Amino acid sequence: MIAFKKQLAEILEKAVATSFEGASLTADELCEMFEYPPDSTMGDVAFPCFKLSRTLRCAPPMIASKLAAADFPEELCTACAQGPYLNFKISKKYLANVLCDEVLARGESYGSFDFGKDKTVVLDYSSPNTSKPFHIGHLGTTVIGHCLKLLHEFAGYKCIGINHLGDWGTQNGKQIVAFKRWGNKEEVEEKGCDGLVELYVKFHEEAENDPSLNDEARAEFKKMEQHDPENIALWKWFLDISLKEYNVTYDQLGITFDHYMGESFFSDKMDAQIQIMRDKNLLKLDDGASIVDLSEYNMPPCLILKRDGASLYPSRDISAAVYRKDNFNFDKCIYVTSAGQSLHFAQWFKVMELMGYDWTDQLVHVPYGTVSIGGEKLATRTGNVVLLKHLFAQAIEKVSAVIDEKNPDLANKAAVSEAVGVGAVVFHYLFNTRIKDISFVLEDALSFEGSTGPYVQYTYARTCSILEKAAAEGLSLAGELNITTDEEADVIKVLSRFPERVLAAIEDYEPSYIARYAIEVATAFNRFYHNCPILSADDENVKNTRVLITKAAGIVLKSALRLICMKAPEKI
Ligand code: ARG
Repeated sequence: MIAFKKQLAEILEKAVATSFEGASLTADELCEMFEYPPDSTMGDVAFPCFKLSRTLRCAPPMIASKLAAADFPEELCTACAQGPYLNFKISKKYLANVLCDEVLARGESYGSFDFGKDKTVVLDYSSPNTSKPFHIGHLGTTVIGHCLKLLHEFAGYKCIGINHLGDWGTQNGKQIVAFKRWGNKEEVEEKGCDGLVELYVKFHEEAENDPSLNDEARAEFKKMEQHDPENIALWKWFLDISLKEYNVTYDQLGITFDHYMGESFFSDKMDAQIQIMRDKNLLKLDDGASIVDLSEYNMPPCLILKRDGASLYPSRDISAAVYRKDNFNFDKCIYVTSAGQSLHFAQWFKVMELMGYDWTDQLVHVPYGTVSIGGEKLATRTGNVVLLKHLFAQAIEKVSAVIDEKNPDLANKAAVSEAVGVGAVVFHYLFNTRIKDISFVLEDALSFEGSTGPYVQYTYARTCSILEKAAAEGLSLAGELNITTDEEADVIKVLSRFPERVLAAIEDYEPSYIARYAIEVATAFNRFYHNCPILSADDENVKNTRVLITKAAGIVLKSALRLICMKAPEKI
């Protein structure tokens, strides 16, 4: 619809200049003003004239009727003034062009852009704290982060995905204390991450009665910072165990990272930054710790060094940002974390600005809301967590039971169940506006009806099966296009909005736009499918047209699913 609006805007630009003496508005300005009418019987695109009444000193209905008289080519659209609106109906000819010259001609690259060419975006996402379980709270950063990466790649950016593991902090000291006191090598080896989490939970239970354990943990971490070989060996071993488990989940999601570069990597790279803070007189001592006072900016102080000189989360983030700028020369560095960390990011972004870095406007924090299960908040310390792997396993099992019942002969049942089960969870999550809190109900996610992942995937599989039959019939798909029904036109209109949805999703860092869009496509396609016979259409051109619409819908559904980290099985 972007090209369509641009053409309309150019005609309107001329119409404004001729109908209103002395007035000039550029096509670009006019292009920004279009809207989509809530009810498509009114038109496909609307131009609200009240936005111009001041500039043009004229009543909106008058503007609408004057502009309606302009010369809108028939093969583009028809225009009609309705009160303060100028409504446009797209011509069938134009829709046929969209179908062939845009969607079908561009195929998988339809909806992509190249404005990111020669620019680099670094994305910092997932980044779990090792030693803690990988739970449903990490779903957000993992899938929103990866989706933003895919969206930026779709716009031509070079993207670098970094897993900034939380692998360096007192929590790792706690892990070591717990292992040294109560752990056993064979058991941890056998249980993997679960064994580590058990120890972590035990630590917190024991520390309730014996707070000195916390001092012990700090001391063990301090030893890590001083390269104590025993502790470093334990730490590395724990890290390997955690990574092995994360990778199972990342594989299920189809996610890979360009770098695993966690906080430990920066533990010894802070001196230069600390020196700059000293030189600029930013550091203050507060009860032995070094802080940057941010009261002037209405924020609590940013903690840079602990009393014992150990680094802290913000100082490691500052070093990491400088490292990334030096090594990747990014145009934008995106951090995806829960909204609970918004203050942390605002603080250290400000500190970097005060340090004199002139690229801090390229640092972007993308926050998201909390996840609860059935309304219950999650807390690692008490062991009240829903692990992602368990959630995925449950979803896969349920989908697999449905497939066993409905389509027992399906090939690749295991792979399809995984794609649909995991996809259902991802879709249900991403459908939600990023910043809103979400209460997760697995049954809702797994439904094959309503706004769900399985519904979209199933619709895609439906397009594949129609195309398979068309191929078996040996349809040539050549000849004149003949769009005869509103349902057909509606599918193409929805497809024509894909590029602008991609653009908006990138601008607002909002994967939900794509998830919602996928539902729009699936809904329009299914209405078409139920009301218009496709392969049994009598007229050869009508049949071809409908098969091509099916093909185009399939292309866009597949792209949309891919962009939100979902697989698109051809048969379900
Ligand atoms: N490890 C942190 C956590 O689990 C998230 C890290 C986000 N990235 C960053 N550069 N601070 O809360």
